[in-house]
Amino acid sequence: MTAQLLAKAENTSAVEIIRFNTAAQAERAAAAVLRRHITQTANSVLGLATGRTMLPVYAWLRQWHREGELSFAQSTSFNLDEYCGLASDDPSSFVSYMRLNLFDHVDMAKGRFHFPDQTHPEAFDARIRDSGGIGLQLLGIGRNGHIGFNEPGADRGSRTRVVTLSVSTRMANAGDFPAGTPVPEQAVTMGIATILEAERIVLLATGSGKADILRRAFQGPVGSDCPASYLQLHNHVTVICDSAAAAQLEEPS
Ligand code: GLP
Repeated sequence: MTAQLLAKAENTSAVEIIRFNTAAQAERAAAAVLRRHITQTANSVLGLATGRTMLPVYAWLRQWHREGELSFAQSTSFNLDEYCGLASDDPSSFVSYMRLNLFDHVDMAKGRFHFPDQTHPEAFDARIRDSGGIGLQLLGIGRNGHIGFNEPGADRGSRTRVVTLSVSTRMANAGDFPAGTPVPEQAVTMGIATILEAERIVLLATGSGKADILRRAFQGPVGSDCPASYLQLHNHVTVICDSAAAAQLEEPS
């Protein structure tokens, strides 16, 4: 309790919460933040996320690229996480997800997108640092408060590492695997400290399934019970959500 209170007292949080009526509006707004960042920043370094929430975001980025409004030619990206034990061309891998939904459709050079590697997880943070650091990190949120694959219990100081997935996360992601294929038990993920080093963070949450966790993450105590709550310790976080995901947030007084 004391630790939680201290964390709150030291909190210099500047979490900005932007609510939209519909998920479609929230998704477009999140994509527009990325577009603005990419077009206004020379050699932008992006932190990218997977999950169902992000599919419409990447659809917007593809569309803007097709229409000639957005180029990734000078961008570099680092994805948050990947399952252990899957070949990169496995259709359920996050590499496949990103190729299918973004990389194969835009002009980002092949060597410029990066995924954490289970055999050398510690090299990822150094690589991010060598690239100049992540300028904009896109995040989703798991129903148990995970960000990347930092499950409840994750340490504030954690770095890119191999983690064991919770049963609830494996169940939530089972639909991304063919029937009868178990979700891997382990994954490699950027750590909390890695994520908090990004200059700016944009978290997108849509749908009523995220309402409870959004309140816990941004209006509850900071701590490992809800890893997304560590984002309150960052000085430039924007949460973009629809009214369904925002339903349990208290209105600012
Ligand atoms: C996944 C990913 C996260 C993602 C989260 C929510 O397992 N590792 O990066 O944000 O779970 O996923 P969804 O958007 O499908 O709800």
